[in-house]
Amino acid sequence: MRIAYVNGSYIDNALASVHIEDRGYQFSDGIYEYIAFYNGLLLDGDLHFKRLERSLRELEIGMPVVPSALRVIVRELIERNGREEGGLYIQVTRGVSPRNHIYPKNVRPSLVMTVCGAKTPKQSEFENGVKIMSCHDNRWERRDIKSISLLPNIMAKQEAGRQKMREALFIETDGTVNEGSASNFFMVTKAGVVTTHPADNDILPGISRDVLIKLATKAGIAVDERKFDIAEAKAAPEAFITSTSINVLPVVKIDDKLIGKGVVGEITMKLQELYNSHIYKQTGKKF
Ligand code: PDD
Repeated sequence: MRIAYVNGSYIDNALASVHIEDRGYQFSDGIYEYIAFYNGLLLDGDLHFKRLERSLRELEIGMPVVPSALRVIVRELIERNGREEGGLYIQVTRGVSPRNHIYPKNVRPSLVMTVCGAKTPKQSEFENGVKIMSCHDNRWERRDIKSISLLPNIMAKQEAGRQKMREALFIETDGTVNEGSASNFFMVTKAGVVTTHPADNDILPGISRDVLIKLATKAGIAVDERKFDIAEAKAAPEAFITSTSINVLPVVKIDDKLIGKGVVGEITMKLQELYNSHIYKQTGKKF
């Protein structure tokens, strides 16, 4: 049976619920994290917990429980779900209070966690790459906060699905490439430089993005965090997207334009290997 954690209780996922005056439900007043686990072990757990704490600080929402307790609950929930591998959603909202835009005082933040199956791409997608579409970035200006307010993201992803594309790529009015609807975007330039948008307010600072940048740098691969536009991305010989659920996923087509020769690039392959061995070292999971 799937078990959820809701404000102190472990309950049947099908029966789990929150109050109608939870500010997450009414205002999207909350944040979340998605962490992958393999063999019962969290992948980059500390980095995700750190980002969760930062998101909460930025919104002036308190920690629902002390950090050490959060980890205990996570471990307990994964165990109770009896899953060796999968994904964990942690969601924190400002809490339950009569509807009012102004933050309520002395309200206890709500904490909800759910566990689901792994959302890993198919092996053929890792090997052959995927197609993605570009679309206008109509989100707010604090995309660095992992907010539960995901309307633009879900609408973009929905449209991508309609067009049989794996991901939607958010583009500024001036053509700058930000990130995917649920992933970070990288291109590899002709000079072999792995290039991605800087971690500022325009994008979510992805954990897999950060880990990959460090792994690449350590392996002597040049990395540049700078802005670039969609024309440059389409002309790049290689591209890929990253996230906790898709790892390093090669992109072989953006809109109608093939990337390079339309096959997975050499540097992308090397980065896949580096990231996969990072997962293996931490959790024993082989990709
Ligand atoms: N999404 N950008 C956005 C907008 C995202 O939603 C995500 C992750 C990322 C990549 O972040 P990370 O490497 O920390 O997973 C970038 C997760 C997977 C989700 O929403 O479930």
